[in-house]
Amino acid sequence: YHFGIMMTIKDGEYTATIYKLVRTRSLCDGVVRLARKLDINPLSRAALSLLGFCYYHVQDFSGAAECYEQLTQLHPEVEDYRVYYAQSLYKAGAYAEATKASFALDTPSSHTKMIKLQASIKYFEENHSAAKCLVEQLPPEDTDYVHNMGCLLYQDAKYEDACKKFTSAMQVLGDVPALSYNIALCYYRLCNYAQALKYIGEIIERGIREHPELSVGLTTEGIDVRSVGNTLVLHQTALVEAFNLKAAIEYQLKNLKGAQDALTDMPPRTEEELDTVTLHNQALLNMDSKPSQGFEKLAFLLQQPSFPPVTFGNLLLLYCKHEYFDLAADVLAENAHLTYKLLSPYEYEFLDALLTCQTAPEEAFRKFDDMIGKMTEKLRKLAKQVLQEAKTARDDDGQKKALQEYDTMQEKYIVVLMAQAKIYWNRENFAMVEKIFHKSMEVCNEDDTWRLNVAHVLFMQNKYKEAISFYEPIVKKHYNNILNVSAVVLANLCVSYIITSQNEEAEELMRKIEKEEEQISYDDPDKKVFHLCIVNLVIGTLYCTKGNYDFGISRVIKSLEPYNKKLGTDTWFYAKRCFLSLLENMSKHIITLKGVMVQECIQFLENCEEYGREVPAIIEQPLEESRVQMGKNTVTYEARLLKALFYKVTSWNE
Ligand SMILES: *[C@@H]1O[C@H](CO)[C@@H](O)[C@H](O)[C@H]1NC(C)=O
Ligand SMILES: *[C@@H]1O[C@H](CO)[C@@H](O)[C@H](O)[C@H]1NC(C)=O
Ligand SMILES: *[C@@H]1O[C@H](CO)[C@@H](O)[C@H](O)[C@H]1NC(C)=O
Repeated sequence: YHFGIMMTIKDGEYTATIYKLVRTRSLCDGVVRLARKLDINPLSRAALSLLGFCYYHVQDFSGAAECYEQLTQLHPEVEDYRVYYAQSLYKAGAYAEATKASFALDTPSSHTKMIKLQASIKYFEENHSAAKCLVEQLPPEDTDYVHNMGCLLYQDAKYEDACKKFTSAMQVLGDVPALSYNIALCYYRLCNYAQALKYIGEIIERGIREHPELSVGLTTEGIDVRSVGNTLVLHQTALVEAFNLKAAIEYQLKNLKGAQDALTDMPPRTEEELDTVTLHNQALLNMDSKPSQGFEKLAFLLQQPSFPPVTFGNLLLLYCKHEYFDLAADVLAENAHLTYKLLSPYEYEFLDALLTCQTAPEEAFRKFDDMIGKMTEKLRKLAKQVLQEAKTARDDDGQKKALQEYDTMQEKYIVVLMAQAKIYWNRENFAMVEKIFHKSMEVCNEDDTWRLNVAHVLFMQNKYKEAISFYEPIVKKHYNNILNVSAVVLANLCVSYIITSQNEEAEELMRKIEKEEEQISYDDPDKKVFHLCIVNLVIGTLYCTKGNYDFGISRVIKSLEPYNKKLGTDTWFYAKRCFLSLLENMSKHIITLKGVMVQECIQFLENCEEYGREVPAIIEQPLEESRVQMGKNTVTYEARLLKALFYKVTSWNE
């Protein structure tokens, strides 16, 4: 957010013309590039002030500070130079030097500027009490006073009061993007996303209207545009901040695509030019598709002098999610000084317990249990509060907030519960997992994640009837959009139906899936669709595990047709398991396969060979050092291997 000091650098005779020209960024850019190339020394006063101005406008504040430093020495009588010098240092983050330079401004005409500058420095040094003392020395009618008090209130988590200050500053200053952004940020903190989005919308609309040259939205539309650079103009539009906030809100609302679009809508810059918040958000929002780059960006950020505080917790959690527990432990150990400052007690306890799982699972189980106990207490309290708010019904906001707090706490609870259950899931002690879930019924009964995992654990224990009663409502809920349900859930439900002799239900569900996939193929003939295929593969696997390989393998083979649409990494995984099991039993002479079946298998593997050149056989972990050798991680390669095994095994059997 912006802490307001809104002084503009201007310089006598150049101001009028240059300011107009600089709005087309290229002038400043050109001047700076030329200056860097020519490196003339000493420069005349005119050249220095032009260059200082340009450096400032392309946000190269150290460069600007150097120019203004020379100017203050050449012309100590010009007060503006001293102001610009101090301000450039401050913008460059050289707070100690900036403070020193600010003392040279203690003249009657610059006193207020000095106070504002010193307040800003203290603010960014996170010395908020000192910043407040300074701000209080400003005349109360100064709009910077109001704006800055708003920022300090925000820091104190008094978001409503802060919002009022920003709004009243806006009444005087008019529609300044930085103020709109600060207001949006307050609403975001208050979980009033609709209001926040309204102010963000205004910033964006204005940015597009007044600065078409900033190429808003073009990247999302797939148009290749060149960087607009980190100019002062870009900074003043608050577009980068607004789009980042929009991404955060969409992410909170679980609209990942919307969040990603917000980031690509942002005025384009090269990766080296990105600010730390944008870099962090890019990493986080593209973690599923680009995990290696995401890890790289987050780890890079941690090495920087400043980074968004959430970077630390997010990197740790993501390492754990991808089961890089050693890396997480290293980061935690190397940055022990940050844990207290940057992790909430909940995050710390959770990470600590997760890492303990690797060495002392029993102890980890106890740690999770402690957390769950504390959270259950809190949830009970919050539930009471929600009821109370509903009864007194003073205002909608109070009730909304109480509900939101309850939901947030419940979400955290589920995360801890699942981590605890996973200890036993990994040991395939499903009875214990079921027990853990049973204990949490009071809190979780309505929660989809909980119900889904209960269904899985029942399924794993062959309790098919009970599993159906948990899978069914999940599938019914999305019945009109059945492909939104994950394929494994549909497959497990079908298998449960078949085993409990409810073949009708299984067939109906499969017809429904087939119909939706046909619709997709109709709309987009080249799109790969996997749901029905996976359901059939799982059913085929079921028959194979029961020893009925003739039927099982035929089903597997059929399910992958047509190959151009059905052969994918996931489907190959299911298919190859059946073939490996078959080969194992054939090699042990436990079963023999009819000659025609062997021919069918070989034909199938040859088809996979043909269509599988571009299909990875496994999804590699993002940070793995020893990559699978090029060319080996393809379905083609593995299909050939399996074919060779078939020849070997059948020639033995002959
Ligand atoms: C904050 O600034 C004041 C005034 O400069 C200084 O005395 C104090 O030590 C600072 N506090 C911290 C925590 O740095
Ligand atoms: C389900 O998928 C459709 C399109 O496939 C999408 O528009 C919709 O938002 C999804 N719904 C949910 C609840 O995920
Ligand atoms: C085939 O091998 C699997 C191991 O892959 C084994 O569990 C199974 O019992 C065997 N099937 C038959 C019919 O013997």
